[in-house]
Amino acid sequence: MQRYIGIDLGGTNIKGALVSETGKILKQRSVPTHTEAGAEAVTKTIAAMICALAEGDYVSGVGMGCPGTVDDQEGTVVYACNLGWVHYDVRTALRELTGYSVRLVNDANAAALAEAAVGAAKGAQSAVVVTLGTGVGGGVVLNGKLLTGFTGAASELGHMTIVADGEPCACGQKGCFETYASATALIRMTREAMAQHPQSALHRIAAENGGVDGRTAFLARQVGDAAGGEVVRQYIHYLAIGVGNIVNILFPEVVALSGGIANQGENLLAPLREEVAQREYGAAYSKKHPRILCCTLGNDAGVIGAALFAKD
Ligand code: BGC
Repeated sequence: MQRYIGIDLGGTNIKGALVSETGKILKQRSVPTHTEAGAEAVTKTIAAMICALAEGDYVSGVGMGCPGTVDDQEGTVVYACNLGWVHYDVRTALRELTGYSVRLVNDANAAALAEAAVGAAKGAQSAVVVTLGTGVGGGVVLNGKLLTGFTGAASELGHMTIVADGEPCACGQKGCFETYASATALIRMTREAMAQHPQSALHRIAAENGGVDGRTAFLARQVGDAAGGEVVRQYIHYLAIGVGNIVNILFPEVVALSGGIANQGENLLAPLREEVAQREYGAAYSKKHPRILCCTLGNDAGVIGAALFAKD
């Protein structure tokens, strides 16, 4: 049985795992990223994790998922706005530190590979995974193959424009899907509602849970709070615009959502499906529709997908 190491480099944590060729996690590690310490320091942390995971095992390959555009042929992170990395030759740095030649894949592409192989979209002919975290990522798997685009930069679903001249995005554009559908965006909308509605239950719920997070508005809605309900409605509306675009462009069998917000399950999915169905071209005349689901691998999708990418 071959074993691979998968690394999931995130803005908050670096996760790593030793993974079997069938996508089973055998060993796992997670450490904070400390992006502010710079690319070289982060690379050293990744290298130490790879060495710890490899100890005592024969490793057939190492893959790493990174946010942003990666070039697996060149071995570089081309542009990762949320990490502040531009044209960084991470493969050479990691080879010098670990001896492994690390394969590079976008983080959401890695998650999509994993969900298609062993998660929510297993057995589906085509699937799109949308990751709702600090940013919004996208991965498209068609007939078991990852859609890479010309250079590997596909598919930056978080940076499609959904509101003309809308909210500013970290990428420099305005109105990106990410600025309306990420956890960061949901928190921003929740804070705005709190400022406008001093009597809202949002304040009590945020205080009880140590601050505003992606759950605050959903919890407020559950207790009948009008301001919380309106935040959730707005958020799902924006999410539905993006998912509706994805459906009309690719018409995949499955659209699977991941990230903490996806833990809302049917509270999120039921209204989302309803609005996406209204946006799906010709929906009234089709017998089959994309299934909108939550991912099933949770935080493990990134490491499993990175390992599977190294295998292929
Ligand atoms: C980046 C994507 C990434 C996503 C999730 C976005 O801002 O552009 O490449 O997949 O965040 O990390």
